[in-house]
Amino acid sequence: MIRRPGLERVAVALDTPEWERFVELCELFGPRVGVLKVGLEAYTRWGPAAVAEARRHDADVFLDLKLHDIPSTVAGAVSAACDQGVDYLTLHAAGGSAMLEAAAAAARERVKLLAVTLLTHLDEDALAVLDLPGAGATRAARWATLAWQAGCHGAVCSPHEVAALRAAIAPPFLLVTPGIRLGGAVVDDDQARVGDPRTTLASGSDLLVVGRPLTQAEDRRAALVLWAAEISGSSPPESGSALNRGGRSRR
Ligand code: C5P
Repeated sequence: MIRRPGLERVAVALDTPEWERFVELCELFGPRVGVLKVGLEAYTRWGPAAVAEARRHDADVFLDLKLHDIPSTVAGAVSAACDQGVDYLTLHAAGGSAMLEAAAAAARERVKLLAVTLLTHLDEDALAVLDLPGAGATRAARWATLAWQAGCHGAVCSPHEVAALRAAIAPPFLLVTPGIRLGGAVVDDDQARVGDPRTTLASGSDLLVVGRPLTQAEDRRAALVLWAAEISGSSPPESGSALNRGGRSRR
C-alpha cells in the first residue's frame, strides 16, 4: 500500500460508535497514514479489542486516554497500556509533576508518553471561566516543560501554541497537534483553537491529529490525497522530524 509522503505525520482519530465502521476506518487509514488513534469513545466501548484491531494494520497505535488521576492509579494504567503494545499514550500535564513522574517510571520507555496541555475546544471565554485566562501559549509551554522534566516524550497542544512550545523545548521532544483544518478555518464543530496543516508543521509540530475532516469526508481517499499534498508541500524531506528520530532520547 502506498503511504503518500506527508501522511506519516498524520494520526487519524478513529472516533465512531460502530465496531464495523471502526474496523473499516482501520483498514482504510492504517496502510495510508503514520498513526491510528484509539480514543476514549472506542476504548470505552471495546477496550483492548480496539487496540488489538488497530495494531493489525501497518501504522503506529496511539491510545488517547488522557489519564488524570493520583500517581499510583495513573502508573497502573500506563503499565496496562504498555502491556497492550501501544506506541503513544496521553495523560494530562495538569496532573502535576508527581503524576507525570510516576507515569514515566511505569512506562520504562515502552511507550511514548504525551502530556496534554490545553484542550483545543477551549476558547478564550472558556479559559477565563476556568480561571485560566489569556496567555494560553505561556501556560501550555509551562505545562509542557513540566512534562519534559518529568520524563514524558512529548506534549499535545493546539496549533496556536505549537510555536511557543517548540521555542521552549527542542526536539526530540514531540509536539502533537489536534484541531487541524484545511485553511485553518473554525467550522461548525467543537474545535475552537484550530490551524492548517502546513503552518502547524512549519511551527514545529511533529504529528497532526486529524479526525472528522478525513473520517467523515465524502470521498476519504480523495481527502487523503488532498491532505498529503498540503502536508508534503510544507515538509521537505531534509527538514526531518523528532518523530523519525524516536522522540525522547533514553536516559
Ligand atoms: O479532527 P477532529 O476534530 O475530528 O479530531 C478530534 C480528535 O482529536 C478527538 O479524537 C479528540 O480526542 C482529539 N483531541 C482533541 N483535542 C486535544 C487532544 C485530542 O481534539 N487537545
